[in-house]
Amino acid sequence: MKITDTSDLWWRSAVVYCLDVETFMDWTGDGKGDFVGLAHRIDYLAQLGVTCLWLMPFYPTPGRDDGYDITDFYGVDPSLGTHGDLVEVLRLADDRGIRVIVDLVVNHTSDQHPWFTAARSSRESPFRDYYVWRDAPPPGHEENVFPDKETGVWQRDEKTGQYYQHSFYRQQPDLNITNPAVRDEIAKILGFWLQLGVSGFRVDAVPFLLDTAGVDAARQLLPDPHEYLRSLRSFMGRRSGQSILLGEVNLPYEDQLEFFGGPDGGELTMQFDFLTMQHLYLSLARQDARPLVQTLLARPELPDGAQWAIFVRNHDELTLDKLSDDERQEVFAAFGPEPGMQLYGRGLRRRLPPMLDGDPRRIRMVYSLLFALPGTPTLFYGEEIGMGENLAVEGRSAVRTPMQWTAGANAGFSTAAERKLPAPVTPGGYGPAFVNVESQDHDPDSLLVFVRKLVQTYRTTFEIGFGAFGVLDSGTPGVLAHEMRWDEGCVVALHNFSPESAEVRLPLEGSAVLDLLTGIREPLPEKGPAVLSLEGYGFRWLRLLA
Ligand code: GLC
Repeated sequence: MKITDTSDLWWRSAVVYCLDVETFMDWTGDGKGDFVGLAHRIDYLAQLGVTCLWLMPFYPTPGRDDGYDITDFYGVDPSLGTHGDLVEVLRLADDRGIRVIVDLVVNHTSDQHPWFTAARSSRESPFRDYYVWRDAPPPGHEENVFPDKETGVWQRDEKTGQYYQHSFYRQQPDLNITNPAVRDEIAKILGFWLQLGVSGFRVDAVPFLLDTAGVDAARQLLPDPHEYLRSLRSFMGRRSGQSILLGEVNLPYEDQLEFFGGPDGGELTMQFDFLTMQHLYLSLARQDARPLVQTLLARPELPDGAQWAIFVRNHDELTLDKLSDDERQEVFAAFGPEPGMQLYGRGLRRRLPPMLDGDPRRIRMVYSLLFALPGTPTLFYGEEIGMGENLAVEGRSAVRTPMQWTAGANAGFSTAAERKLPAPVTPGGYGPAFVNVESQDHDPDSLLVFVRKLVQTYRTTFEIGFGAFGVLDSGTPGVLAHEMRWDEGCVVALHNFSPESAEVRLPLEGSAVLDLLTGIREPLPEKGPAVLSLEGYGFRWLRLLA
């Protein structure tokens, strides 16, 4: 093993777990999750095999956008605990070998942030230029990210008679990164959290952050926003060489490459692979691996050390905005036919298991793929036990219900009265009576035990995180066959999107294959292709043995 190649690239073989402190575990009994509750659950995450915890925004907030509207970038919302409680979580995580990254939401602030309060008080305020102001909305209609609530991205401010830009809700005024003072503030925020011990940031809405088109040309002081991202990355690297920027960039691959810093890198360390995620759903809907295969083949080559983060679901709607209208309708028809399951005309506010009608074969195949595809697997809390959504909860919050720990009251999440919870626990067949950690923990057939197995196998299969990736011709439209080669090793993975069993013929070298998930060896023929069988929705991870 070439240790020198990998020892400082921890993120390439990490297991990322995303959670919102507010919905994970309430220890103080007030109905809201808190840092003390999370501290008590660090060993659960360690046992699952998580190596990187991504904390969704925990900063003081009026809660207009579930914490993505921040009033103090240095603070901890009092309902979640104190800095002391947070540091305790960092220490416990560190002790278990778990790194922590935090959400960096600096495209905008809350409209109640002191900067904005000052900025809107007068055109002469020293904070005025922290935000983007115009006398009139510039020509060209830009659609707001939240089209159900907002008709545009410019809001008139009565007192000072100008319009401010907001790519998201009007309560989230966009910061002006062309202003050097704002860039200094952002650097200080990074510096603060790095000093406290975090290993990097999940950078929110990066294309919006770098989009300076709204700024009056006369005030444009930043010719190349990518140059700024590059300097932010090197600043972070100087402060903490092992830290990462994991960016949210939902754009075509060629644009994503730019956010990595082009072929030479130097900007984001990792980016979520939205295209692979969206085409995975198209493949699932069609029971045909080809849309996914084509997307994987279209991935650009990444700069050294950079990596994709792969995900099946996250805290937002399952966006399908990069599919064609027809393709999106196909996925809607398969996985969210009712209007109440859809959001913003582009996505689904559902979790995976209900979309797959709870079929354990398909659910496991998808999670197997999450861990077997090249890229860093990223889990959203509750996925490991197969939680479902609560469609009675508004908007995106349908997938942000309390973590289900036990079959007891409030799913063991809180001892408070039900009405005090941040969102009602998911009812029905995906409710705590059927889906909870406690009952799955010791059940060898549970999803939780299965996911633990995937995590362990992924963590001991370096080819996945570090290897050269290639798609193999499976000869069967339903089956994705791919290989990863690293050092002397080669692992071949097979995933069957179709309910029909399949036989895949592949010209494999070696004397046998070792099935990494079952431990069973299968000899390879001396001549001719190997014939590998797969059940309907089956999957296999095979190491070639010399
Ligand atoms: C990102 C977050 C989303 C939030 C938005 C505005 O897209 O994932 O939850 O609403 O940014 O901060």
